[in-house]
Amino acid sequence: MRTQVCIVGGGPSGLLLAQLLHRAGIDNVLLEKHSRAYVLGRIRAGVLEHGFARLMQEAGCGERMAREGQVHHGFWIARDGRLERVDLHKHSGGGSVIVYGQTELTRDLYEARERMGGTVLHEAEAVALEGLTTERPSVVYRKDGRTERVECEFVIGADGFHGVCRRAIPAGALREYERTYPFGWLGVLSRTPPVSPELIYVKHARGFALCSLRSNVLSRYYIQVPLSDRIEDWPDEAFWEELKRRLPADVAARLVTGPAIEKSIAPLRAYVAEPMRYGRLFLAGDAAHIVPPTGARGLNSAASDLYYLSRALIAWYRDRDASGLDGYSARALARVWKAQRFSWWMTMLLHEFPETSAYERRLQEAELDYLFSSERALGALAENYVGLPY
Ligand code: APR
Ligand code: PHB
Repeated sequence: MRTQVCIVGGGPSGLLLAQLLHRAGIDNVLLEKHSRAYVLGRIRAGVLEHGFARLMQEAGCGERMAREGQVHHGFWIARDGRLERVDLHKHSGGGSVIVYGQTELTRDLYEARERMGGTVLHEAEAVALEGLTTERPSVVYRKDGRTERVECEFVIGADGFHGVCRRAIPAGALREYERTYPFGWLGVLSRTPPVSPELIYVKHARGFALCSLRSNVLSRYYIQVPLSDRIEDWPDEAFWEELKRRLPADVAARLVTGPAIEKSIAPLRAYVAEPMRYGRLFLAGDAAHIVPPTGARGLNSAASDLYYLSRALIAWYRDRDASGLDGYSARALARVWKAQRFSWWMTMLLHEFPETSAYERRLQEAELDYLFSSERALGALAENYVGLPY
Protein backbone atom coordinates (compact mmCIF):
# COMPACT_ATOMS: atom_id res chain seq x y z
CA MET A 1 0.00 0.00 0.00
CA ARG A 2 1.19 3.55 -0.77
CA THR A 3 0.29 6.80 0.96
CA GLN A 4 1.80 10.17 1.81
CA VAL A 5 1.73 9.87 5.61
CA CYS A 6 1.56 6.63 7.59
CA ILE A 7 0.28 7.19 11.13
CA VAL A 8 1.02 4.46 13.67
CA GLY A 9 -1.49 4.42 16.57
CA GLY A 10 -5.23 5.03 16.70
CA GLY A 11 -5.44 6.80 20.07
CA PRO A 12 -6.54 10.44 20.20
CA SER A 13 -3.19 11.69 18.82
CA GLY A 14 -3.14 9.52 15.71
CA LEU A 15 -6.83 9.97 14.97
CA LEU A 16 -6.83 13.73 15.36
CA LEU A 17 -3.76 14.13 13.17
CA ALA A 18 -5.29 11.84 10.55
CA GLN A 19 -8.38 14.05 10.43
CA LEU A 20 -6.43 17.32 10.26
CA LEU A 21 -4.30 16.00 7.38
CA HIS A 22 -7.28 14.51 5.56
CA ARG A 23 -9.10 17.86 5.66
CA ALA A 24 -6.00 19.50 4.18
CA GLY A 25 -5.98 17.00 1.30
CA ILE A 26 -3.01 14.97 2.56
CA ASP A 27 -3.45 11.25 1.98
CA ASN A 28 -2.81 9.10 5.04
CA VAL A 29 -3.20 5.58 6.40
CA LEU A 30 -3.64 4.84 10.11
CA LEU A 31 -2.56 1.56 11.71
CA GLU A 32 -4.01 0.55 15.10
CA LYS A 33 -2.98 -2.68 16.74
CA HIS A 34 -6.21 -3.17 18.72
CA SER A 35 -9.88 -3.33 17.74
CA ARG A 36 -12.00 -0.18 17.82
CA ALA A 37 -14.04 -1.59 20.75
CA TYR A 38 -10.84 -2.12 22.76
CA VAL A 39 -9.60 1.42 22.14
CA LEU A 40 -13.01 2.82 23.12
CA GLY A 41 -13.05 0.72 26.29
CA ARG A 42 -10.08 2.55 27.81
CA ILE A 43 -11.03 5.12 30.42
CA ARG A 44 -8.66 8.05 30.50
CA ALA A 45 -8.44 11.79 30.95
CA GLY A 46 -11.36 14.16 31.03
CA VAL A 47 -10.16 17.77 31.29
CA LEU A 48 -9.41 19.57 28.03
CA GLU A 49 -7.99 22.92 27.08
CA HIS A 50 -9.82 25.13 24.61
CA GLY A 51 -6.85 24.67 22.27
CA PHE A 52 -7.79 21.01 22.04
CA ALA A 53 -11.41 21.90 21.32
CA ARG A 54 -10.30 24.24 18.53
CA LEU A 55 -8.32 21.43 16.89
CA MET A 56 -11.35 19.16 17.14
CA GLN A 57 -13.45 21.83 15.39
CA GLU A 58 -10.82 22.24 12.70
CA ALA A 59 -10.81 18.48 12.22
CA GLY A 60 -14.60 18.52 11.77
CA CYS A 61 -15.26 16.46 14.94
CA GLY A 62 -15.95 19.08 17.58
CA GLU A 63 -19.73 19.35 17.39
CA ARG A 64 -20.73 16.95 20.15
CA MET A 65 -17.95 18.21 22.40
CA ALA A 66 -19.24 21.77 21.98
CA ARG A 67 -22.77 20.57 22.84
CA GLU A 68 -22.10 18.10 25.65
CA GLY A 69 -18.75 19.18 27.13
CA GLN A 70 -19.04 21.09 30.40
CA VAL A 71 -17.17 24.38 30.69
CA HIS A 72 -15.52 24.70 34.12
CA HIS A 73 -14.42 28.08 35.41
CA GLY A 74 -12.74 26.79 38.54
CA PHE A 75 -11.85 23.86 40.77
CA TRP A 76 -11.33 23.23 44.48
CA ILE A 77 -8.41 22.24 46.65
CA ALA A 78 -9.35 20.56 49.95
CA ARG A 79 -6.98 20.44 52.92
CA ASP A 80 -7.38 20.26 56.67
CA GLY A 81 -11.06 19.57 56.21
CA ARG A 82 -11.83 22.76 54.28
CA LEU A 83 -12.24 23.74 50.65
CA GLU A 84 -10.56 26.61 48.83
CA ARG A 85 -11.53 27.52 45.28
CA VAL A 86 -9.16 28.23 42.41
CA ASP A 87 -11.07 30.67 40.23
CA LEU A 88 -9.60 29.85 36.82
CA HIS A 89 -11.67 32.47 35.08
CA LYS A 90 -10.56 35.30 37.33
CA HIS A 91 -6.94 34.29 37.74
CA SER A 92 -6.20 33.33 34.13
CA GLY A 93 -7.87 36.40 32.68
CA GLY A 94 -11.07 34.79 31.41
CA GLY A 95 -9.95 31.19 30.87
CA SER A 96 -11.71 27.90 31.52
CA VAL A 97 -11.40 24.18 30.72
CA ILE A 98 -13.79 21.68 29.14
CA VAL A 99 -14.79 18.46 30.90
CA TYR A 100 -15.39 15.82 28.22
CA GLY A 101 -14.21 12.22 28.45
CA GLN A 102 -11.44 10.87 26.26
CA THR A 103 -13.67 7.91 25.43
CA GLU A 104 -16.31 10.22 23.94
CA LEU A 105 -13.71 12.25 22.11
CA THR A 106 -12.14 9.13 20.59
CA ARG A 107 -15.58 7.92 19.50
CA ASP A 108 -16.21 11.30 17.77
CA LEU A 109 -12.87 10.99 15.97
CA TYR A 110 -13.57 7.44 14.77
CA GLU A 111 -17.03 8.43 13.54
CA ALA A 112 -15.68 11.44 11.66
CA ARG A 113 -12.97 9.29 10.11
CA GLU A 114 -15.62 6.85 8.93
CA ARG A 115 -17.83 9.60 7.46
CA MET A 116 -14.89 10.93 5.48
CA GLY A 117 -13.87 7.51 4.24
CA GLY A 118 -10.38 7.65 5.76
CA THR A 119 -8.35 4.46 6.02
CA VAL A 120 -8.01 2.92 9.48
CA LEU A 121 -6.53 -0.55 9.65
CA HIS A 122 -7.54 -2.16 12.93
CA GLU A 123 -5.72 -5.08 14.50
CA ALA A 124 -2.77 -4.02 12.38
CA GLU A 125 0.38 -3.96 14.48
CA ALA A 126 3.39 -2.06 13.20
CA VAL A 127 6.44 -4.23 13.79
CA ALA A 128 9.25 -2.39 11.99
CA LEU A 129 10.01 1.00 10.47
CA GLU A 130 12.41 1.06 7.53
CA GLY A 131 14.24 3.71 5.52
CA LEU A 132 13.56 6.47 8.04
CA THR A 133 16.53 8.50 6.83
CA THR A 134 15.47 8.23 3.18
CA GLU A 135 12.65 10.04 1.33
CA ARG A 136 10.73 6.76 1.01
CA PRO A 137 10.33 5.23 4.47
CA SER A 138 7.98 2.31 5.06
CA VAL A 139 6.10 0.65 7.91
CA VAL A 140 5.96 -3.12 8.14
CA TYR A 141 2.87 -4.41 9.95
CA ARG A 142 1.16 -7.68 10.87
CA LYS A 143 -2.54 -8.18 10.23
CA ASP A 144 -4.55 -11.42 10.16
CA GLY A 145 -1.33 -13.41 10.44
CA ARG A 146 0.16 -11.78 7.35
CA THR A 147 3.03 -9.32 7.02
CA GLU A 148 2.25 -6.23 4.91
CA ARG A 149 3.92 -2.93 4.19
CA VAL A 150 2.87 0.72 3.87
CA GLU A 151 5.20 2.77 1.68
CA CYS A 152 5.01 6.46 2.48
CA GLU A 153 6.81 9.80 2.67
CA PHE A 154 6.48 10.42 6.42
CA VAL A 155 5.88 8.15 9.41
CA ILE A 156 4.08 9.50 12.48
CA GLY A 157 4.73 7.65 15.75
CA ALA A 158 1.48 8.20 17.65
CA ASP A 159 1.58 4.73 19.17
CA GLY A 160 1.66 5.70 22.84
CA PHE A 161 4.25 5.11 25.52
CA HIS A 162 4.65 1.37 24.83
CA GLY A 163 4.67 1.63 21.03
CA VAL A 164 7.41 0.63 18.58
CA CYS A 165 8.13 3.92 16.84
CA ARG A 166 10.25 5.57 19.52
CA ARG A 167 12.24 2.34 19.80
CA ALA A 168 13.05 2.54 16.08
CA ILE A 169 15.29 5.53 16.81
CA PRO A 170 18.92 4.43 17.32
CA ALA A 171 19.91 4.70 20.99
CA GLY A 172 22.65 7.21 20.26
CA ALA A 173 20.18 9.60 18.64
CA LEU A 174 17.72 9.70 21.54
CA ARG A 175 17.96 11.22 25.00
CA GLU A 176 15.46 10.06 27.60
CA TYR A 177 14.39 11.76 30.83
CA GLU A 178 12.35 9.93 33.40
CA ARG A 179 10.89 10.24 36.88
CA THR A 180 8.86 7.58 38.63
CA TYR A 181 6.78 8.38 41.69
CA PRO A 182 6.52 5.95 44.61
CA PHE A 183 2.72 5.61 44.34
CA GLY A 184 -0.17 5.21 41.93
CA TRP A 185 -3.75 6.40 41.51
CA LEU A 186 -6.58 3.96 42.04
CA GLY A 187 -9.42 5.22 39.83
CA VAL A 188 -13.11 4.34 39.91
CA LEU A 189 -15.77 5.28 37.38
CA SER A 190 -19.33 5.04 38.70
CA ARG A 191 -22.78 5.83 37.39
CA THR A 192 -23.54 8.23 40.25
CA PRO A 193 -24.08 11.99 40.35
CA PRO A 194 -20.74 13.75 41.00
CA VAL A 195 -20.24 14.93 44.58
CA SER A 196 -19.31 18.40 43.30
CA PRO A 197 -20.04 20.17 40.01
CA GLU A 198 -16.39 21.30 39.98
CA LEU A 199 -13.33 19.07 40.50
CA ILE A 200 -11.94 18.71 44.03
CA TYR A 201 -8.21 17.97 44.47
CA VAL A 202 -7.64 16.70 48.01
CA LYS A 203 -4.44 16.99 50.06
CA HIS A 204 -4.70 14.67 53.05
CA ALA A 205 -2.32 12.95 55.47
CA ARG A 206 -3.68 9.55 54.31
CA GLY A 207 -2.85 10.47 50.72
CA PHE A 208 -4.13 12.49 47.78
CA ALA A 209 -7.65 12.11 46.39
CA LEU A 210 -9.52 13.59 43.44
CA CYS A 211 -13.24 13.99 42.75
CA SER A 212 -13.82 14.36 39.02
CA LEU A 213 -16.64 13.67 36.63
CA ARG A 214 -17.60 12.84 33.08
CA SER A 215 -21.20 14.16 33.15
CA ASN A 216 -24.04 14.88 35.58
CA VAL A 217 -24.60 11.15 36.02
CA LEU A 218 -21.08 9.79 35.69
CA SER A 219 -18.37 10.33 38.31
CA ARG A 220 -14.65 9.64 38.32
CA TYR A 221 -12.81 9.38 41.64
CA TYR A 222 -9.20 8.64 42.48
CA ILE A 223 -7.18 7.90 45.60
CA GLN A 224 -3.40 7.73 45.98
CA VAL A 225 -2.28 4.16 46.77
CA PRO A 226 1.11 2.48 47.33
CA LEU A 227 2.61 0.86 44.23
CA SER A 228 2.39 -2.52 45.93
CA ASP A 229 -1.44 -2.40 46.06
CA ARG A 230 -3.41 -4.52 43.63
CA ILE A 231 -6.98 -4.10 42.37
CA GLU A 232 -8.08 -7.16 44.38
CA ASP A 233 -7.09 -5.27 47.55
CA TRP A 234 -9.77 -2.71 46.81
CA PRO A 235 -13.36 -3.98 46.71
CA ASP A 236 -15.82 -1.11 46.01
CA GLU A 237 -16.75 -0.69 49.69
CA ALA A 238 -13.12 -0.27 50.75
CA PHE A 239 -12.56 2.31 48.02
CA TRP A 240 -15.55 4.44 49.04
CA GLU A 241 -14.63 4.22 52.72
CA GLU A 242 -11.08 5.38 52.05
CA LEU A 243 -12.22 8.18 49.74
CA LYS A 244 -14.65 9.45 52.41
CA ARG A 245 -11.91 9.50 55.04
CA ARG A 246 -9.87 11.83 52.87
CA LEU A 247 -12.71 14.23 51.96
CA PRO A 248 -13.87 17.14 54.14
CA ALA A 249 -16.75 15.86 56.35
CA ASP A 250 -19.51 17.81 54.57
CA VAL A 251 -18.34 16.57 51.17
CA ALA A 252 -18.07 12.97 52.41
CA ALA A 253 -21.60 13.23 53.82
CA ARG A 254 -23.08 14.03 50.41
CA LEU A 255 -21.02 11.52 48.40
CA VAL A 256 -23.29 9.14 46.48
CA THR A 257 -21.60 5.76 46.03
CA GLY A 258 -22.40 2.94 43.63
CA PRO A 259 -20.87 -0.04 41.86
CA ALA A 260 -17.61 0.67 40.03
CA ILE A 261 -18.06 0.44 36.25
CA GLU A 262 -14.32 0.53 35.87
CA LYS A 263 -11.52 0.30 38.40
CA SER A 264 -7.80 0.44 37.72
CA ILE A 265 -4.48 1.44 39.24
CA ALA A 266 -2.11 3.66 37.26
CA PRO A 267 1.44 4.28 38.45
CA LEU A 268 2.56 7.91 38.30
CA ARG A 269 5.49 8.58 36.07
CA ALA A 270 6.95 11.30 33.87
CA TYR A 271 8.97 10.73 30.73
CA VAL A 272 10.31 12.81 27.84
CA ALA A 273 12.23 11.64 24.76
CA GLU A 274 14.33 14.13 22.83
CA PRO A 275 14.34 14.92 19.96
CA MET A 276 10.86 14.10 18.70
CA ARG A 277 12.12 13.52 15.17
CA TYR A 278 14.44 11.07 13.49
CA GLY A 279 14.74 11.50 9.72
CA ARG A 280 11.23 11.08 8.32
CA LEU A 281 9.80 9.80 11.62
CA PHE A 282 7.96 12.28 13.85
CA LEU A 283 6.76 11.35 17.35
CA ALA A 284 3.60 12.83 18.87
CA GLY A 285 1.70 12.47 22.15
CA ASP A 286 2.39 9.66 24.63
CA ALA A 287 4.92 8.09 22.24
CA ALA A 288 7.27 10.96 23.11
CA HIS A 289 6.24 12.12 26.58
CA ILE A 290 4.00 11.26 29.50
CA VAL A 291 3.12 13.15 32.68
CA PRO A 292 1.56 12.17 35.99
CA PRO A 293 -2.17 12.95 35.75
CA THR A 294 -2.26 15.56 38.53
CA GLY A 295 -2.50 18.67 36.39
CA ALA A 296 -4.52 17.03 33.57
CA ARG A 297 -1.75 17.72 31.04
CA GLY A 298 -1.48 14.37 29.20
CA LEU A 299 -3.91 14.76 26.36
CA ASN A 300 -3.40 18.52 26.29
CA SER A 301 0.34 18.06 25.72
CA ALA A 302 -0.45 15.76 22.81
CA ALA A 303 -2.68 18.49 21.33
CA SER A 304 0.11 21.03 20.99
CA ASP A 305 2.29 18.42 19.25
CA LEU A 306 -0.52 17.82 16.77
CA TYR A 307 -0.99 21.52 16.21
CA TYR A 308 2.69 22.06 15.32
CA LEU A 309 2.95 18.83 13.33
CA SER A 310 -0.20 19.34 11.26
CA ARG A 311 0.92 22.86 10.32
CA ALA A 312 4.39 21.62 9.45
CA LEU A 313 3.11 18.85 7.16
CA ILE A 314 0.55 21.11 5.51
CA ALA A 315 3.26 23.74 4.76
CA TRP A 316 5.46 20.98 3.33
CA TYR A 317 2.81 19.58 1.01
CA ARG A 318 1.48 22.99 -0.02
CA ASP A 319 4.73 24.94 -0.56
CA ARG A 320 7.58 22.43 -0.03
CA ASP A 321 8.37 24.59 3.01
CA ALA A 322 10.43 22.43 5.40
CA SER A 323 10.85 25.00 8.17
CA GLY A 324 7.93 23.68 10.25
CA LEU A 325 9.20 20.12 10.02
CA ASP A 326 12.73 21.19 10.91
CA GLY A 327 11.52 23.25 13.87
CA TYR A 328 8.90 20.74 15.07
CA SER A 329 10.86 18.97 17.79
CA ALA A 330 12.19 22.14 19.43
CA ARG A 331 8.82 23.92 19.35
CA ALA A 332 6.88 20.94 20.64
CA LEU A 333 9.40 20.20 23.40
CA ALA A 334 9.40 23.80 24.63
CA ARG A 335 5.73 23.43 25.51
CA VAL A 336 6.02 19.81 26.63
CA TRP A 337 8.60 20.76 29.28
CA LYS A 338 6.36 23.48 30.68
CA ALA A 339 3.58 20.92 31.04
CA GLN A 340 6.09 18.57 32.72
CA ARG A 341 7.05 21.31 35.15
CA PHE A 342 3.44 22.07 35.98
CA SER A 343 2.37 18.47 36.56
CA TRP A 344 5.50 17.88 38.67
CA TRP A 345 4.66 20.94 40.77
CA MET A 346 1.03 19.89 41.31
CA THR A 347 2.06 16.32 42.08
CA MET A 348 4.64 17.44 44.67
CA LEU A 349 2.18 19.88 46.21
CA LEU A 350 -0.69 17.49 46.83
CA HIS A 351 0.67 13.96 47.45
CA GLU A 352 2.02 12.18 50.49
CA PHE A 353 5.54 10.98 49.84
CA PRO A 354 6.59 7.94 51.89
CA GLU A 355 9.97 9.45 52.77
CA THR A 356 8.87 13.01 53.37
CA SER A 357 10.62 14.57 56.36
CA ALA A 358 8.78 16.81 58.82
CA TYR A 359 10.62 19.72 57.23
CA GLU A 360 9.37 18.93 53.74
CA ARG A 361 5.84 18.44 55.03
CA ARG A 362 5.89 21.97 56.42
CA LEU A 363 7.19 23.25 53.08
CA GLN A 364 4.22 21.64 51.32
CA GLU A 365 1.89 23.41 53.76
CA ALA A 366 3.71 26.71 53.27
CA GLU A 367 3.43 26.33 49.51
CA LEU A 368 -0.36 25.94 49.80
CA ASP A 369 -0.62 28.83 52.27
CA TYR A 370 1.37 30.98 49.87
CA LEU A 371 -0.77 29.92 46.91
CA PHE A 372 -4.02 31.00 48.51
CA SER A 373 -2.54 34.24 49.85
CA SER A 374 -1.15 35.48 46.54
CA GLU A 375 -3.06 36.54 43.46
CA ARG A 376 0.12 36.13 41.46
CA ALA A 377 0.65 32.55 42.64
CA LEU A 378 -2.97 31.74 41.79
CA GLY A 379 -2.40 33.39 38.42
CA ALA A 380 0.55 31.08 37.72
CA LEU A 381 -1.53 28.03 38.65
CA ALA A 382 -4.55 29.15 36.63
CA GLU A 383 -2.69 30.05 33.42
CA ASN A 384 -0.98 26.66 33.39
CA TYR A 385 -4.17 24.73 34.19
CA VAL A 386 -6.18 26.34 31.37
CA GLY A 387 -3.19 25.79 29.08
CA LEU A 388 -0.26 27.90 27.93
CA PRO A 389 -0.67 29.37 24.45
CA TYR A 390 0.48 27.65 21.26
N1 APR B 1 1.08 -0.63 15.92
C1 APR B 1 -0.12 0.00 15.85
N2 APR B 1 -0.70 0.62 16.89
C2 APR B 1 -0.05 0.63 18.07
C3 APR B 1 1.21 0.01 18.22
C4 APR B 1 1.78 -0.64 17.09
N3 APR B 1 2.96 -1.26 17.15
N4 APR B 1 1.61 0.19 19.50
C5 APR B 1 0.64 0.87 20.12
N5 APR B 1 -0.38 1.15 19.26
C6 APR B 1 -1.62 1.88 19.54
C7 APR B 1 -2.25 1.58 20.89
O1 APR B 1 -3.08 0.43 20.83
C8 APR B 1 -3.06 2.85 21.16
O2 APR B 1 -4.39 2.75 20.69
O3 APR B 1 -1.32 3.27 19.61
C9 APR B 1 -2.33 3.93 20.36
C10 APR B 1 -1.70 4.98 21.24
O4 APR B 1 -2.71 5.70 21.90
P1 APR B 1 -2.53 6.37 23.33
O5 APR B 1 -1.75 5.48 24.23
O6 APR B 1 -3.88 6.81 23.77
O7 APR B 1 -1.59 7.64 23.04
P2 APR B 1 -1.99 9.06 22.40
O8 APR B 1 -2.91 8.89 21.24
O9 APR B 1 -0.73 9.81 22.22
O10 APR B 1 -2.89 9.72 23.52
C11 APR B 1 -2.52 10.75 24.34
O11 APR B 1 -3.35 11.56 26.45
O12 APR B 1 -4.90 11.35 28.16
C12 APR B 1 -3.60 11.13 27.80
O13 APR B 1 -2.18 9.31 28.23
C13 APR B 1 -3.43 9.68 27.81
O14 APR B 1 -3.79 8.22 26.03
C14 APR B 1 -3.70 9.44 26.34
C15 APR B 1 -2.80 10.47 25.79
C1 PHB C 1 -10.07 12.76 35.29
O1 PHB C 1 -11.23 13.20 35.31
O2 PHB C 1 -9.82 11.61 34.93
C2 PHB C 1 -8.97 13.67 35.74
C3 PHB C 1 -9.24 15.00 35.97
C4 PHB C 1 -8.23 15.85 36.39
C5 PHB C 1 -6.97 15.36 36.58
C6 PHB C 1 -6.68 14.02 36.32
C7 PHB C 1 -7.70 13.16 35.89
O3 PHB C 1 -5.98 16.19 37.01
